[in-house]
Amino acid sequence: MKILFVCLGNICRSPLAAGILRKKIDERNLDVEVESAGFEPHHIGQEAEQRTIDIAKAHGVDIIKHGMRMFSAEDFDTFDRIYVMDQKNYRDVTEMARNEEDMKKVDFLLNVIEPGVNKIIADPYYGTSADFEKVFLKLDKACEIIANSIEQQKRATT
Ligand code: 4NP
Repeated sequence: MKILFVCLGNICRSPLAAGILRKKIDERNLDVEVESAGFEPHHIGQEAEQRTIDIAKAHGVDIIKHGMRMFSAEDFDTFDRIYVMDQKNYRDVTEMARNEEDMKKVDFLLNVIEPGVNKIIADPYYGTSADFEKVFLKLDKACEIIANSIEQQKRATT
């Protein structure tokens, strides 16, 4: 199983989501690859934003080895699921989808909590540290559901 998180800058929401899910995957001993990507080339190769690193660390999550990368059409071949944070990310990703199979891989991350509702996780880049905390809690809730469901699938098939 390979999961990709996508946001705009790939320095706040998606690397944080990837760090949170990786920790939950490791804790459950699951075989899942987790990556993140974005669409805004300003910060290519850079670490996550300092406030992202700080909020992660405060919750025991390590995202220090992140390097910003752009989403590419090949990601549809590599990943089984592609989770986006908001409508713009959804448009950016689905505009690059080549077929129905690609389209089916893309969903709003918060739909794992409330399917089909398309709730968004807003960009905290211009926000406060309280906004980063809110983002963390939403990502953590969604990632907990993803990790638990993969763990259940594994139990059901072994
Ligand atoms: P993110 O936040 O999409 O959660 O990583 C952003 C960070 C940087 C920029 C946009 C969004 N930017 O335009 O530089």
